[in-house]
Order: sequence, then structure tokens, then C-alpha cells
Amino acid sequence: MLAFGVDIGGSGVKGAVVDVTTGQQVTERKKIATPRPSTPDAVAEVVRKLVEDAGWDGLVGITVPSVVRNQIALSAANIDPAWIGTEVQELFRRHLGSRDIAVLNDADAAGLAEVRYGDPTARTGAAMMLTFGTGIGSALLIDGELYPNTELGHLPFKTTTAERYASSKVKEAEQLSYSQWAARVDEVMHAYSDLFNPQTFIVGGGISRDADAWVPLLTVEQDVVPAQLRNEAGIVGAALAVIENTMP
Ligand code: BGC
Repeated sequence: MLAFGVDIGGSGVKGAVVDVTTGQQVTERKKIATPRPSTPDAVAEVVRKLVEDAGWDGLVGITVPSVVRNQIALSAANIDPAWIGTEVQELFRRHLGSRDIAVLNDADAAGLAEVRYGDPTARTGAAMMLTFGTGIGSALLIDGELYPNTELGHLPFKTTTAERYASSKVKEAEQLSYSQWAARVDEVMHAYSDLFNPQTFIVGGGISRDADAWVPLLTVEQDVVPAQLRNEAGIVGAALAVIENTMP
């Protein structure tokens, strides 16, 4: 079964056709820079272009870096504030035409994909997926089922928030080495561990490509598994969500 998955991020909008039986992308992944300002209509137009360029007229799953409840975006931390209150079905249908569309949080999509296709350690029990990018995204999964819309990147931490302390954007902005940054991530993960006690952490986002440079430095007691789908988990999870009708 095939669906088009789109992952909307703070810096790029990426999409590909995904075979949800295998979790593999079956077309080349295309990426377009996130428009500035990243208003709903400007971003939806980019999504339309990705879908149209692929010649795709079937189902489309879309991630957004926002809380999505009853298919209404309720937050906008790293995207234009105009997203808050946007009825996302209406928005994307206006740009993509009438078809089945599912919209969900980016980290939630990544978590769904990782527990389905990634490291089997995370498939059972309580797993916490964390994505490190512009922000820190989180997804809580129990036996593969999602508790949607957790926003653990916004946990108040020290004098700031977890994501303003330890996202990979902060690593870049402050030119932290892997060991300096891993020490921050470790502190944040200890806080998450104290509060939620997951069995397994899955760590993703673009920076999971370099997992060997920082995951071994973490000292939380849990298994920490790098995302196997790397930065593609959002695309794959979006496609999975529209096929399985997972719509927060
Ligand atoms: C947003 C989340 C998102 C995360 C990763 C956070 O700033 O609030 O909804 O999952 O960034 O993109």
C-alpha cells in the first residue's frame, strides 16, 4: 500500500511516496526550503508542489511541527504563528484537492514509524521518541500505540526550556562539540527519565546520522536506540498515519 508522506520542518519541507508495507520510500525524496514567512498557505503551496511534481493523486499524510488536536493546529513554536487555530484538513484540501489527508505532529509521526519499522527494542513497552532539530520533538508510545501531542521540548529546564538548551539548532548556534552537546542532551534525558521512566529512548532527527559521536556518551540507564529511519521517519510516519487513519 502506497501513500505520499510529507514532513514539514522549520527549515525544509520533504516528501516521497512510501510503501507502508515495508516502510521504504519508493520515489526519490524531494526537499524544498520552508517558505519565509512560513504561513499555512505558503507552506501548503510547497506541499502541493511536492505532490504534483511526483505526479501523485492518492492519499497524503503530512506532519507539522505543532500540536494537532481534532485536526486543528494549536501551537507554532518553530513555524509562523498564523498556524495556531488553522483547520488543517480544510487548508490542505484547498491546495491538494479533495482526497484522504491526515495531519499529525512531526515527532509523533517519527515515533509511529520507528516503532513499526525501526529497532525492535522499542516495539513493546513504554518508548519515548525524541527528535533533535530546530526544536526537540517528543512522542510517547506504549506497545506501538501513540499518546499524541506531548511537547517535552518545552519542558521548563534550568533558566530556559529543554529545546532551547539542547536542540541540534542550539548545538550549531553555540558551536558546541559533540561531547559538550551530549552532556546537555544527557541532562535533559535524565529529567525525562525521572518524570516518565520509559523503557526505551529512541533518538532521531538529522543529527541521528552521527549517533556514534554522541549516543555512547549518554548516561541514562535505559536503552537508547538511534532512529533507524534517520531523518526520514517523519515522511514514513505521515504516510503510515494516512493509511491507518491515525488522526489526532
Ligand atoms: C514543537 C513540536 C515539534 C518539535 C520538533 C517543537 O518546538 O513545539 O510540536 O514536534 O518542535 O519539530
